[in-house]
Amino acid sequence: MVFEERVINDVRFRRVCRSVDVSERRGHRIDISLHQDVALFRVNGVIKAVSNVCPHKHEPVLCNGVVADGTVQCPLHGWTYNLTSGQPLVGSAGLKTYRVFEEAGHVWLEVEADDAPPWASW
Ligand code: FES
Repeated sequence: MVFEERVINDVRFRRVCRSVDVSERRGHRIDISLHQDVALFRVNGVIKAVSNVCPHKHEPVLCNGVVADGTVQCPLHGWTYNLTSGQPLVGSAGLKTYRVFEEAGHVWLEVEADDAPPWASW
């Protein structure tokens, strides 16, 4: 599969989905690589991107969390995170956040530098 990517201010972005795929009420998972599993959310119309992996038990479940008032609550044990900052409201560790933007009906997500596939160094 060929991905469309752009570099803006030295940050690599990948077009990952359509804007309509991300709603206000539920997360949308973007599994970029083994190292970058992201959940997209929409808060008051604005796209937010955080790690999909809950730091409590390292489970990739936050895309299925309960969304309310700019937060997501993990469906497993209730740790809760601010979707803008990634900071925990309930729990003892925060989420990594990613740069993300919309353009012409598509969502562009920051791709981490270590996104090289495991076989790339062979
Ligand atoms: S795995 Fe998310 S709160 Fe336990």
